[in-house]
Amino acid sequence: MFNLRKDGFNSNDIISFGNMFLIGNGHLGYRGTLEEYSKKEMVGLNVVGVYDKYLDKWRESINMPNPFFLKMDEYNIFNKDYINHYIDLDIKHALFTRNTEFNNLIIKSERFISQTLDNVIIFKYEITAKEDINTSLTLGMDLDIYEINGPHFKDYSITRIDNTLSFKGLTNENKELYEEVIYLFPKELKEENYSKGLFTCSLTLNKNQKIEIYALSKISEYKKEKIDNFSIDLYSKYKEDHFNNFENKWKQSDVIIKGNEEAQFAIRYSIYHLLILGNEKYETSIPARGVSGETYKGAIFWDTEIFLLPFFTLTNPNVAKKLLKYRINTLEGALNKAKEYGYEGAFYAWESQEYGQDACSKYNVTDPLTNEPIRTYFNEKQIHISFDISYAVFQYINATLDESILDEKCFNMLIEIANFAISYSKKIDDKYHVLDVIGPDEYHERVDDNAFTNYLINYVIKNTIKYLRKYNYKKELIEKYQDYLDNLYLPKINENNLIEQFNGYFNLEDTTIEIVRSRLRHPLDYWGTENGVAYPTRIIKQADVITLLVLLNEEFNYDIKKANFDFYYPYTEHGSSLSSSMYSILASELNYNDIAYDMFMKSATIDLGTNQKMFAGGIYIGGTHPASNGGSYLSLLFGISGLKFKDNEIILNPHLPSKIKGLEFKIIYRNKKYLINIYEDNSYKVENIYD
Ligand code: IFM
Repeated sequence: MFNLRKDGFNSNDIISFGNMFLIGNGHLGYRGTLEEYSKKEMVGLNVVGVYDKYLDKWRESINMPNPFFLKMDEYNIFNKDYINHYIDLDIKHALFTRNTEFNNLIIKSERFISQTLDNVIIFKYEITAKEDINTSLTLGMDLDIYEINGPHFKDYSITRIDNTLSFKGLTNENKELYEEVIYLFPKELKEENYSKGLFTCSLTLNKNQKIEIYALSKISEYKKEKIDNFSIDLYSKYKEDHFNNFENKWKQSDVIIKGNEEAQFAIRYSIYHLLILGNEKYETSIPARGVSGETYKGAIFWDTEIFLLPFFTLTNPNVAKKLLKYRINTLEGALNKAKEYGYEGAFYAWESQEYGQDACSKYNVTDPLTNEPIRTYFNEKQIHISFDISYAVFQYINATLDESILDEKCFNMLIEIANFAISYSKKIDDKYHVLDVIGPDEYHERVDDNAFTNYLINYVIKNTIKYLRKYNYKKELIEKYQDYLDNLYLPKINENNLIEQFNGYFNLEDTTIEIVRSRLRHPLDYWGTENGVAYPTRIIKQADVITLLVLLNEEFNYDIKKANFDFYYPYTEHGSSLSSSMYSILASELNYNDIAYDMFMKSATIDLGTNQKMFAGGIYIGGTHPASNGGSYLSLLFGISGLKFKDNEIILNPHLPSKIKGLEFKIIYRNKKYLINIYEDNSYKVENIYD
């Protein structure tokens, strides 16, 4: 139950499989492609946290040359009829393997990104002859890099000493990146030619003869880091170390689902994607598409704080802390952005890059019919990002009791975020209103008093005051914030227990998703913005009020949750992968167990299908979906298990759907480890464990 395997070859699946079979270490990602693939097949060795801008194109994360290019003239997946072919991802050990059998030759390969060595990727390629073979192959570093908005290396050099290649690239922003690769060639491989990173070799094998090619590649930034040593013996050692390390990660993070193999694999696959992203060694945070490529410019969104952070807080708090530190360390970017738009305080980037600068463009989507860019206001109006960050800090402290995060820099951040809320608000008739924003539902831009945003501001400023008091911060500051809170407008809960998503939402056209879809001019038309089909209607892209009810769960009663779930559910298109997990969590609480299960599965299987949403209004947005992976974990713990924390107490209120017969998982809460079991009759056991 720890292997994802796909048999056969279909060129239509190349891009999806590239995402599906991804390996990574939190800083590097290597897509699940075959050795003979090149740029066209989107081979990607993505480096998170290193960005570059080419001319006036989008600034995005960098892809390095593929160090493991290997193509045989005759025996490659495009040219020759194969007898058997499959690829496999061992998620327990983060190992990709390939197995292709031709009439007279078998290829097996494997690769992993080491969890123990810094930025090292290791590769083995095995050829077994079924008959006498005389062929030729090309292998080495493919300098023709797949990039969306490149080229990013304005200059590079490649040097060779024996079978070691050293690439040095200079980006358009004058950053130096290095890639060193050691190849271990068997004697049967006879070099015929070498040119620009590629060795062309002849290969003669007798029937039943097997050869192995090994390669180890190390990526470094700013200064070249040399590979100490590599040999066939070391290959085995590195692999074993990597396996042990990754198995250990699973020990704390696994969730066992009883009685349902499909759901079991889905949650493990989601957890796999979280594990290849969480690494405290690297200072960067986690981009919205993980390490699967440059989609969304390799930038960090609210996805990290709201959908990913809880997983790390409960399984590996050091990673959670590191993710928060990224925001604390990039405060300056947020201060600059606020200034740029004429506000005080910290307005965090909607799409944050290494210094907190916003990569989000004014034109995020294009018209698929005319190819014209469409104006969107995500960066200017999706202000909830700042409050999501404060919210995450308070959640982390509550779950870990680690107030060491609250150093001066962190307090500055919380204060500047509160200042931003005040500065953005307008006082009308004695009340502070938060006008002209975008809530989580991106289809309705530039709305007033989005309930999610206003309630979140209320929550985070309340908590900011709490900690300012505790640490004896200036009284005037506290009074200022208290005055703002006393007068902040919070959208009312109406006589039907409904919270209006934003001012005027209830007056929008009451229609169905199908009708709205039927109004599209083109299947890839963007639904949002003033000209989009969803804009004049109640159809929303993703959980908005429902996300509020999940995040601030304690502040709303059952009747309010039920009324809003029943109301918003039919209007939600789930056009964002961040949507279904929120509905799943609330559905469990309301005893809508089948919906909870379906929404959980939708979230957990997002990267397992080959029909993912790859385009938004003409722009490629494919890749993996960490927020959805994180969301599916949250659905199981906070939804189906009904996990809540009240001071030191762990509360469970399980609602197992009929398709799940039991759950078992571990959490770290307030420095103690617990093993939690939920049984088929919804009874449960919480044990303190000491491993
Ligand atoms: O952060 C999300 C947003 O909520 C919906 N569009 C995609 C973004 C990145 O995942």
